Amino acid sequence: MPRTAQLPEIPFIGTLQREAGPLSRQLAQAMRDAVARGELKPGEPLPSTRALAEALGVSRGTVVEAFDQLVAEGIFSAQHGAGTRVAAALDRSPASRQRERKTVKLPAKVKAFANIKKEFAALPPVPFAVSVPAGAAGPNEVWRKLGNRLRGGDAAPAGYSEPQGVLALREAIADYLRRSRSVHCEPHQVVITTGTQQGLFLSCQILMEDSDSVWVEDPAYRGITAILESIGFKDSIVHVPVDEEGIDVAAGIEMDAQARVAFVTPSHQFPLGMPLSMGRRKALLAWAEANQGWIVEDDYDSELRYAGHPFPALQGLAPERVIYLGTFSKILYPSLRLGYAVVPDALVDAYVGARILMDRYPPTADQYVLAAFIKEGHLDRHIRRVRGVHAERRAFVIETLERFIAPDLAWLQPSDQGMHLVLWLAEGLDDREVATLGREAGVALRPVSSMYGGSRRPSGLVLGFSGFEDKAIEDAARKLAEILKTLAD
Ligand SMILES: Cc1ncc(COP(=O)(O)O)c(C=O)c1O
Repeated sequence: MPRTAQLPEIPFIGTLQREAGPLSRQLAQAMRDAVARGELKPGEPLPSTRALAEALGVSRGTVVEAFDQLVAEGIFSAQHGAGTRVAAALDRSPASRQRERKTVKLPAKVKAFANIKKEFAALPPVPFAVSVPAGAAGPNEVWRKLGNRLRGGDAAPAGYSEPQGVLALREAIADYLRRSRSVHCEPHQVVITTGTQQGLFLSCQILMEDSDSVWVEDPAYRGITAILESIGFKDSIVHVPVDEEGIDVAAGIEMDAQARVAFVTPSHQFPLGMPLSMGRRKALLAWAEANQGWIVEDDYDSELRYAGHPFPALQGLAPERVIYLGTFSKILYPSLRLGYAVVPDALVDAYVGARILMDRYPPTADQYVLAAFIKEGHLDRHIRRVRGVHAERRAFVIETLERFIAPDLAWLQPSDQGMHLVLWLAEGLDDREVATLGREAGVALRPVSSMYGGSRRPSGLVLGFSGFEDKAIEDAARKLAEILKTLAD
């Protein structure tokens, strides 16, 4: 007799058979069928994952996985703090039912990209989403004034512009990077991007050939591993472990000395937070030199160091081997969609060419406003101001988490920079489950385990601390503490 899990109160689920394959897939199919048959109506609320798991006698993770799959397919919609429902927008017209019955054969990439959409969905601006700009400390007023002033001049609507980015902005960025980040660069090496995500994509396109392997840190920013997976390099990724000195170069050489590119975050390892030690910097550069490889330096938040001065960029030690990527998403705001790549001379034309094919260039008017913002000293002033604001928020979040959460359930990874913290979870606490429960409770959390690619996948959460009021932080910390306690009991 097959062992079964039945749920008579919710007849649409029917019977799940453990022998018939993954339970989450069976559950997803049962709910998909129930929606198709009209037993579950558009907009109808679903039971909580906990209640359903209990009723079905399966783990909560199984139900979470099934729900997540249907959310990704657009059949369910998950609203922050309001649970999961059948998507209200589901078209139940007879024509659409007929369309559904026909099985459309889609390329595998369709599902892969749809999953990326789900994984990268912006978290709502509630604690502990990352990169929420510092409200009142934002440069809105100055930005508006500069926009008004330039509207009749450089920033007025015009014809096609320079795909590398407007010269005024490239000059301003080169000057800023030379003096504040020890980057060796001239304006002709700066390529304006719509942010580091694009810089990473351009680098993968230009630097990698079919047979090449590539080093990424383990754990790594999903923004890079997801690109590599999506362009057919999943099996070429070498997940090089990270320890307290940053990426372990000797381990990387042992794993695959011939890799073509290393993607690294030397100033502030993402997500763990340690800087790359000087010994490791030299070892990494020596490896790249010997191997004729490239290093892509993602310097996403180095301006925000709270103890001492920001670390100089790796690029300054080997400008011909390093592609340096920077962004204004952290220090100004993510919606600006402006960043830059500083590229060795030999690669500049290729970056500009690939850039043209992708989207030509970002809006020219915003580039002129940003150029004036930097040249007239507003960026330096803004950095000084937000560093203080973020440092204060960071201290409050640390103090609050330590107040609410028992140290045997979770503890913070030490770090002294950036806009996020990592909270490690005790053995047995599944960070993905915690993140899902957090979402249901109105708390924004990113699991760390999904940022690992090797065999070790410790459980933890990435917590943003910027942009939130005391009360919101306290409420969220209390809810998180309750979730952890309930799961641990
Ligand atoms: C490691 C890392 N790199 C880069 C970025 C920034 O990406 P973008 O400039 O595309 O907003 C982020 C943002 O979260 C990040 O965490």
